[in-house]
Amino acid sequence: MIEIRINGDKFESDVRAMVQAFYPNEKLYVVKERTELEVQKRPDGPLIRTLSFNTDSYDDKNVLKKDIYGKLSADMGKSLSWGILTGVRPTKIPMSFLDAGRVKEDIIDALKRIYLLNDDKANLITDVAARERTLIGTITDDTYSLYVNIPFCPTRCLYCSFDSYPIGAYEDAIPSYVDALKKELKAIEEINHDKKLLTIYFGGGTPTSLSAKHLREIMSFINETFDLRYLREWTVEAGRPDSIDIEKLKAIKECGGTRVSINPQTMNDKTLKVIGRAHTADDVRNAFHLAKESGIDVINMDMILGLPGESTEDVRFTLDRIVEFKPENLTVHSLAMKSKAPLVLEKDKYVDFSMENPDENMMLAREYAGRLELLPYYLYRQRNMVGNGENIGFAKEGTEGLYNILIMEELHSIYSAGAGAITKIVKTKGTLNKRIENVKDVKEYISRIDEMIKRKVDI
Ligand SMILES: C[S@@+](CC[C@H](N)C(=O)[O-])C[C@H]1O[C@@H](n2cnc3c(N)ncnc32)[C@H](O)[C@@H]1O
Ligand code: SF4
Repeated sequence: MIEIRINGDKFESDVRAMVQAFYPNEKLYVVKERTELEVQKRPDGPLIRTLSFNTDSYDDKNVLKKDIYGKLSADMGKSLSWGILTGVRPTKIPMSFLDAGRVKEDIIDALKRIYLLNDDKANLITDVAARERTLIGTITDDTYSLYVNIPFCPTRCLYCSFDSYPIGAYEDAIPSYVDALKKELKAIEEINHDKKLLTIYFGGGTPTSLSAKHLREIMSFINETFDLRYLREWTVEAGRPDSIDIEKLKAIKECGGTRVSINPQTMNDKTLKVIGRAHTADDVRNAFHLAKESGIDVINMDMILGLPGESTEDVRFTLDRIVEFKPENLTVHSLAMKSKAPLVLEKDKYVDFSMENPDENMMLAREYAGRLELLPYYLYRQRNMVGNGENIGFAKEGTEGLYNILIMEELHSIYSAGAGAITKIVKTKGTLNKRIENVKDVKEYISRIDEMIKRKVDI
């Protein structure tokens, strides 16, 4: 545990984020010195060190973060490749510089000077921002996207914190869930009747946990209800290979799906067992070939770096296998330690597993993506990432998942249906004006569907 003492109300979250970046696996405990007010309940465990910051004397959070960075970097003999950047969307900074007409060299220089990024990350986010800008250049204000949440999975993965439920225990509720979804989808279409639907994304959870019949029912309803003339892509996260069969993939293809994810996370069977995926590397192979056979245009594969017990050589092993598939998209995540995930909740069970994600891992992933002629086109970061890394989406030119950029950069409204789905209203490009949340519990979502709809209609 690290105790942080601050003397004001300002910048608490910035101080926390900066200290956490140096101590990704430590719990933080904040005390406001002026009143000795404990901000957070003191976590259990030994106190590693106490840090005091005179936050009251700062007006600019970046100056404060730079001072914290300087102190911790000197004390620990460690620099961070992301410098003082701790936010989820670092590309927003080079994006705003590009909008202001600044040239690439000038932007890279500013990222290094103001935010202390190393040369590699400064170049990377500037390139990603430039690519994003080209891809979103044609998006007009009269468009929106649709997200459909299917919060069910075959089993829970060790690192996962999503609100998702075991499909086996919810079979009886699925027909009513599909009915409630259809009702909400109809309302979303009515609200946006004058707008152009640009992208659809089925996520979760694992949408292919549903049967082929239910997938077809929801997708056919969308075809009948919405005007799909302007639709540029329709992603269905198939995700877990153990949830996929040819009937489901055919249903997706025949109903208009253009992009699916077949996610190995790792191709090491030993690790797949540890992380509770309940499928093998061979199952990934079969699922990938079925997806190809179904004729779906774009296949994405997700992998995670820094998984329990995995070395850089294990990452190389996974990448060597992925290269054989030649997917159109590859999304590389750095393991994030989520407080609601079993990996963190039951962390004593995993003390013997190393969890490391050096920059070398991401460099390797970028090298392999390059071999497949995939370019980085969106990037985001999360809190508590092992190795203080990033998540990057790579794609063959012309196959980029547009929805991923739209949600990341908050470029237009995304209307969301389903339990736990969050609608994000954007009135001015780049600014999230309102979030409308649906209840997370599946049974409550079904019984309170009219209220979920009213929340959106009222906006
Ligand atoms: C919304 S999840 C759903 C995907 C699908 N259910 C699956 O597991 O294959 C999308 C991706 O986020 C990544 N992910 C989920 N939890 C993560 C974590 N704690 N750290 C890093 N990546 C994570 C995984 O690569 C996963 O495929
Ligand atoms: S990682 Fe995917 S499959 Fe695993 S529990 Fe989370 S949403 Fe479900």
